[in-house]
Amino acid sequence: MSEQSELLQQARQAAEGAYCPYSNLRVGAVVVTGSGARYSGANVENAAYASTLCAEAVAIGQAVSAGERHLSTVAVFSPDLKSIHPCGQCRQRMTEFGVEHVIIEGPDGEPVQKDLAVLLPAGFTDWREGE
Ligand code: THU
Repeated sequence: MSEQSELLQQARQAAEGAYCPYSNLRVGAVVVTGSGARYSGANVENAAYASTLCAEAVAIGQAVSAGERHLSTVAVFSPDLKSIHPCGQCRQRMTEFGVEHVIIEGPDGEPVQKDLAVLLPAGFTDWREGE
């Protein structure tokens, strides 16, 4: 199995932990760090809908709170939707930690790699850099 398929498989497993009584959309995400470590997460919804956490946000939070500061890849999978793309806020979260690639499942079930630079061109970064 290719590494991309393996990551999607792991994201599929992570989606089993989803708490999504409002949307019924289960989502799982796996973050790969610069050193190759992996962290996963699932979406966690809330009766106050805007308080919902995306699967990517949970997985990134796991990685960063474990001390990771450079993330390379994020795989996202939903058993309830083909070709799920990360939301805009999560693309910005990925920008913060240097994510380069996002892996999703394509329409024919094959892994598709997208560059974060294409998904979020000119994301916001620390304005103090270069001072
Ligand atoms: N969701 C994610 O977890 N990741 C995405 O990339 C898009 C949306 C979740 C949030 C919410 O629980 C549900 O999907 C419906 O928006």
